[in-house]
Amino acid sequence: MIKSNVAELLGSDNFLQEITLNGWVRTFRANRFIALNDGSTINNIQCVVDFEKMDEATLKRITTGAAISVTGTLEESLGKGQKVEVKVTSLKILGDSNPDEYPIQPKKHSFEFLRENAHLRIRTNTFGAVMRLRSALSFAVHKYFTENGFYNFHAPIITGSDAEGAGEMFNVSTLDPLNPPKKEDGTIDYSQNFFGKETNLTVSGQLEAETYAMALGKVYTFGPTFRAENSNTTRHLAEFWMIEPEVAFNNLDDNMDLAEDFIKSVISYVLANCKDDIAFLNDRLIQEDKRKPAIERSEMTLIERLNFIVENNFKRVSYTEAIDILRNCKPNKKKKFQYIINEWGADLQSEHERFLVEKHFKCPVILFDYPANIKAFYMRLNEDGKTVRAMDVLFPGIGEIVGGSQREERLEVLQQKIKELNIDEKELWWYLDTRRFGTAVHSGFGLGFERLVQFTTGMGNIRDVIPYPRTPQNAEF
Ligand code: 4AD
Ligand code: MG
Repeated sequence: MIKSNVAELLGSDNFLQEITLNGWVRTFRANRFIALNDGSTINNIQCVVDFEKMDEATLKRITTGAAISVTGTLEESLGKGQKVEVKVTSLKILGDSNPDEYPIQPKKHSFEFLRENAHLRIRTNTFGAVMRLRSALSFAVHKYFTENGFYNFHAPIITGSDAEGAGEMFNVSTLDPLNPPKKEDGTIDYSQNFFGKETNLTVSGQLEAETYAMALGKVYTFGPTFRAENSNTTRHLAEFWMIEPEVAFNNLDDNMDLAEDFIKSVISYVLANCKDDIAFLNDRLIQEDKRKPAIERSEMTLIERLNFIVENNFKRVSYTEAIDILRNCKPNKKKKFQYIINEWGADLQSEHERFLVEKHFKCPVILFDYPANIKAFYMRLNEDGKTVRAMDVLFPGIGEIVGGSQREERLEVLQQKIKELNIDEKELWWYLDTRRFGTAVHSGFGLGFERLVQFTTGMGNIRDVIPYPRTPQNAEF
């Protein structure tokens, strides 16, 4: 007897083989047809029971959500929509699921409701598809970098540095909450936080990755990242996963090439390897679109959007050119920008980014050479003295998916910048050592993994592409 899984059986034509299959009941119809799912695929397999030969008590326990084990033979199915089915010869209930209490009924549930049941939502078709895709994308990330000569570098999670200088850090504390050390004025002395040092959860592994790139050449991190920003949007999480490659001797052009090639490669991987899940999500979005007014419907299906990314070049535009476009555009009267850019030097708002990507260029855009004063301290200053070699990759429906730059490799220029921003140079002594000993041109970027999963699955809210989202409202599970 073969212990099998649904994905294998659905692709098999080895009829009349005896198999044992474990899984969870999705539906049970007419006392006869069980739709069984075991997580191996979006698709259920139909298991047909002969109710006349089964005892009444067991039949009653075949309810949505119950775990069962069936033994039977694989047969060609006469029913529509499936090639095979299992003719059940014996069935064991492994775990009951009381239908009066089980929250995930075979009907449409709102995403809000499912977020409150984050521990069970994975049992729905949509979350099964999204999380299998998330796993496949994660594999594709490691595959891409490994095949391209990168080393995976594990950045520390607890750190003393604020890589982005944005002050959005979660403090890590070993203070005794009942008896914390106090300053002279009676307030708590947080500088004693982590065994005597002030530390936080990392906002980016970049600075540490730079030190490794300056010896191993090409490295990447892929780990959890934390931002204590109180933004309640469909694009922000307090805990997210970031992929950060860092490459010695790469300039900004090389960095843009890497970002574009990397994104195309991981999307191609899932297009080729996750066909059923993508087809399901594609169809889900088509159905969702049909319920919207015509003007709000997407121009492309999910599959068309993913293929578009793989097949088309990203448009590369300098910040200065983008500002000119934004100044001269005639926004649709009904959808006027709330905030019109007049000043060179202002940061772009997400509505400007969306205009450039979705209305003007109608393709992914890489914006580069931003004003120095709106970007982080470590970016390479251009010869004009006012812009830095920064780049953001902007995606339709997502906005910023990648932020990166060529790094400032000149010690004196970096020290000057650190001084201007009132950063304590002593805290960055180790980082500055990379510029003291064997400095070289180098570049890297950070890609927010959840934003990539959002784009690939077409999910509207970032909270629905990570198992247990951490947001200002939600850290219960
Ligand atoms: O633009 P960011 O802040 O850049 C950095 O952290 C650099 N140190 C990266 C580097 O050069 N190595 O963040 C990079 C990306 C963003 O483009 C976005 O995709 C994602 O991380 N991101 C978030 N994703 C979800 N929730 C948040 N709160 C995010 N903040 C940034
Ligand atoms: Mg950014």
